Parts: sequence; C-alpha cells; structure tokens
Amino acid sequence: MPQTQNAELSDFLVVANRLPVDRKTDADGQPVWRTSPGGLVTALEPVMKRKGGAWIGWHGAPDETIDGFEHEGYSIVPVPLNSQDVEDFYEGFSNATLWPLYHDVVAPPEFHREWWDTYKQVNQRFAEAAAANAAEGATVWVQDYQLHLVPSMLRELRPDLRIGFFLHIPFPPQELFQQLPWRKELVEGLLGADLIGFQLPGGAHNFVRLAKQLSGVQATRDTITMPDGRTVKARAYPISIDADGFKALAEDPAVQEEAQQLRENLGNPSTIFLGIDRLDYTKGLRQRIRAFGELFRDDELDPAETVFLQVATPSRERVEEYKKLRDDIDLLVGRINSQEGDIGRPVIAYRHDSFPRTTMAAMYSIADVMVVTPLRDGMNLVAKEYVACHQDDDAALVLSEFAGAAKEMKQAYQCNPHDLNGMKQTILKAATDSKSERRRRMRALRKQVFSHQIDDWAKDFLRDLGA
Ligand code: G6P
Repeated sequence: MPQTQNAELSDFLVVANRLPVDRKTDADGQPVWRTSPGGLVTALEPVMKRKGGAWIGWHGAPDETIDGFEHEGYSIVPVPLNSQDVEDFYEGFSNATLWPLYHDVVAPPEFHREWWDTYKQVNQRFAEAAAANAAEGATVWVQDYQLHLVPSMLRELRPDLRIGFFLHIPFPPQELFQQLPWRKELVEGLLGADLIGFQLPGGAHNFVRLAKQLSGVQATRDTITMPDGRTVKARAYPISIDADGFKALAEDPAVQEEAQQLRENLGNPSTIFLGIDRLDYTKGLRQRIRAFGELFRDDELDPAETVFLQVATPSRERVEEYKKLRDDIDLLVGRINSQEGDIGRPVIAYRHDSFPRTTMAAMYSIADVMVVTPLRDGMNLVAKEYVACHQDDDAALVLSEFAGAAKEMKQAYQCNPHDLNGMKQTILKAATDSKSERRRRMRALRKQVFSHQIDDWAKDFLRDLGA
C-alpha cells in the first residue's frame, strides 16, 4: 500500500496534479528529489514551511508507487497514477477535453465517457489523500483544471475544511462551456470551494453566470449562495512571478557570461527576436513562425542582421494534437531556413528542448524583442519573466491580446495573432520604434511586473480564503 498519509496532520495543504519536486540523480548516482522550478512552488514553499504543510500530487511517472517523504520542512504526499489513468485522466480528459475547450477550442476537444469516468475516480483519489492528511479546520488549496471535482469531493469527506481553488487557465465563455456533456458536474465540483480564483474578472463572471444557470444557485456579483446558506466567492487573482528572483538571476555574472556566449553563437546579430513557449497549440507558434518567414522573405527583416530564436519546451508528447504540432513546426522552420538566410546562418534558430532557468534568463537578457503571441492563454508568465530579466530599457515586448497578461501589460506592443499582417507590422514596429518610445513602454511594464509579484498573489488569495 502506498503511504498516502504523512505522520502528522497538516494545517495547510496544496493539492495539484504535479508535485513540487523533480527526481534527479546525485553525484553518486543516487536518486534525489529537487524542488521544481516554477512560480507556484516558489510562492507556496515559504507558506508550506511556516505551516508545516503538505503537498499532494503526482510525481510524473506512471505505474510507480512512492512513499511520502519530508522535503524542505514540509510533507510530500504522492498520489500514484497507472498507465490507464495517465491515458484517460491526464492525456485524455485533462489535456484533450478540458484544455482545448477552455482555450477557446483552438483545437477540437474530444468527449469520451471512459475518460470522464477515470477523471472522476482520480479526482476522488486526490480528495481522499487530502482528507487523510488534513488537520481539523485546515486550509486546502486545490490547483487547476486537472482537479475540478476535488473541492466538492473533499467537502463531502471533510466539511470542517477551508477549501480554495485556483484555475490557472482561462475559464471559457458560456457558449463553449455548454458543449461539455458533464458541464453541471464540473460547475458543482468547484462549488465545493469557499473561494474560487480565476486569472481575470471575465472568467469569474462566466463561472458565476453558469453556476446560476446550471445549478440554480443564487448569486450577486462575486458571491454565490448555496441552498444550505454557505457562500462561495468567485474572484480574479492574476498570477505573477518572483520578479526580484528573476532579476537577481539575470544579473548573476555566470548568467551574463552565458548570455554573451549565446549572442556570439548566434553570430552577434544586431537584433535578436525571442520566443520561449511550451510546445502547445495554444501558443500560436504556427502563426508566429509564418509571420517571421514572410518578414524574411519580403526583405522586411535582414537575415544578415537579425535572428529569431525560438525555444519550444517538449510537452504532453503522447497527445495527438501535440505530436502533429511538433511535426508542423519542424516542417515550417525547415522550409523557411532552407529558403532564407545563408549557409551556416539560419534565420530561425529553433530548439525543441528544455533549458535550465539560468539559460532562460540569459536568453531573456539578450533578446531585443520578446514575441509572445498565444491564441489564448490564462496569463503567460514568459512575458513577465522577460520584463524582469531584461536589464536594458531599450527592449520591447510583443504580446497577444489573447494572453491574460495583456490586461495588465498595457504598454506592450499588442497584436491579434490571427491577423498575420497585423502581427507582422507589430513585430516590425516593436523592433524599429524610437528608443524613447521603447524605453517609455519598458519602464511602464517593469513598474507593473515589480509591483505585483507572486507573493502578493498568494497572500491576497489566502487572505480572502481566511487562511
Ligand atoms: C499549464 C497548466 C499547469 C500545468 C503546466 C504544464 O501551465 O496550467 O497545470 O502543470 O501547464 O503542463 P503539464 O501537463 O506538463 O503538467
């Protein structure tokens, strides 16, 4: 039997599909667990340590049961998933049903009853693990679309708990959400929480409206009243990054040296455009690469002076739409590079790979223009990371109107990624605008990013949850 209960019950629990640790091998060849990079972990680790918390999640490999352990002063409680769970719950219902549906159906969502059955079972397992590890009256913070049903399942098991939920991805408009055969169950899953957080006010409004329609609950603005009198709040908490941490990383002499080296490897171009994304069809990579291809083809960008560096981090590689995307991008980049640029000087430097945070910081610091053009994105933290890392104000951020970040980052060069000509013009404008205009915009962006950091996000949410 897996050890799904730690020795002591916790007052603060996070329940997320992923654990905050990655398995690595140490110098002696022994497996060790290291804290995963990423904003959520950075934000929550101090709270976890202070409260002796527990983090409940999956460690990322199928068919393997791992005992719970202590890590950095809090408990890690693994929830195992077998291969069928991974197929139906993770790759299936989470990433081939909810993910595309919630991202404006930019890929067609699939609806399969077997996926839904497994999704319910796995959510129940996470809820049971949380219930078994929570002290009387503890606070439990459930994260993201993979665990939509956990709030109500957990409330059923443990009505004494304070339950929060945060959705990291967009919450769709009614017309799209209504496609879901299990729409009522999903809404009611979230209604088990005391506080439901969304990236943007629009998501919170969509949810409140749907809750009234599908569950017949009473609601005023952000407050839903359940038939038993309990209230549920639905509000926006735009997530951010550890901007100070990123700045310090980018200023590190070793990172600066790496940045210099990288610039040389790219042939010391006068303008570097950069894209860094998970290889996901929501990120608008096809459109962005086509835009650059045309700009080089039409001599609007000079291949002797310009490089477009695009990093695509491998993601969900067994899901069909992701396989297809990978092939499409390989073909597109290959075709453009074979026609533009010169021998030994591709116009698009493309890597399908994961890089350490230090290398990402080095990339951000050499990029003259960062290009973030998702078709739909809950927030997009890469846009914020660029602003935190790039030290020189003579820089520019091209940002899709369809990224949650566009609501806060008003001074970015915003574009509609579906409008190829419009996007091309915006990319050129960002690269060629006057120094004073670029500086004015970057300063405003910097002010925004440094005044709303990840700690503020976690504090605001937990304060409103009454934790
Ligand atoms: C998005 C989701 C997260 C997810 C991450 C990586 O940011 O909101 O919940 O963990 O992508 O995706 P993966 O499927 O690898 O966990």
